[in-house]
Amino acid sequence: MNEVIQQLMDHVSIRKFNDKKIAPEDINTILNAAMRGATAGNMMSYSIIKIQSEETLRKLAKSCDDQPFISDASLALLFVVDNYKWHCLFEQRGIPDIFSNYNGPIINDMIIGMQDAMIAAQNAVLAAESLGIGTCYIGDIMEHYEYHKELFCLPQYTMPATLVVMGYYDGKPKLRPRFDTSFVVFDEEYPKIDDNFINDMFYEKEKDTPDFAEKFYKRKMNAYFFIEMRRSLYLYFKQWDKKGDF
Ligand SMILES: Cc1cc2nc3c(=O)[nH]c(=O)nc-3n(C[C@H](O)[C@H](O)[C@H](O)COP(=O)(O)O)c2cc1C
Repeated sequence: MNEVIQQLMDHVSIRKFNDKKIAPEDINTILNAAMRGATAGNMMSYSIIKIQSEETLRKLAKSCDDQPFISDASLALLFVVDNYKWHCLFEQRGIPDIFSNYNGPIINDMIIGMQDAMIAAQNAVLAAESLGIGTCYIGDIMEHYEYHKELFCLPQYTMPATLVVMGYYDGKPKLRPRFDTSFVVFDEEYPKIDDNFINDMFYEKEKDTPDFAEKFYKRKMNAYFFIEMRRSLYLYFKQWDKKGDF
């Protein structure tokens, strides 16, 4: 197994950071690696906000569903879906006057920006891990629309895709298991999913916890943060909603 594959196989999210700070040159390496990711049309429809302020990290620890370890991070990178800069280009160059159907970015642009931003984020994660730096994605950054929009001065046609917190750590947790390949990778076409497939897929999770599905649903889909995320995402999405797309 080569070093890159070995690193991929060893991935684990880190939620306990020590006090060691990430050196500026390593931050630059991580950011440059992030920006080398593939990007649709080479448009780089995203921005990255570098967060090192302890005060902002403390605020995020609260606003991102009360996850205190965020405030111990040395660095957080906010990956933002960003159609605003290209929109400004088109506006400045008079594109709306030339093409009468130009009404600003639409859902395609937003989804492409989300894909670009997540690819950049994963490149950053891999670069950080290769430098011995621990990382954790924070999906809860998609909550509290008004608060995060103001905290980071986000203009129209932008939205947080994800936050990645980074720092050094003392102990590495055990690898967290994944579903077996047979439940995830299909040959040539999507198979028929019958009851047996689902029973087999969730066997490991249900064997000691028969009410796993109910508990999981309550903890995730029925939780406050999930409902709040839905509210916020709808408000973000509306920026791209030209004809009631959402
Ligand atoms: C999009 C996304 C959002 C996530 N959000 C959070 C989060 O808010 N808090 C957290 O502690 N972990 C978060 N994670 C990390 C996952 O919980 C973690 O990847 C998963 O449990 C598997 O563990 P592993 O990364 O250690 O293998 C997120 C991961 C992804 C990909």
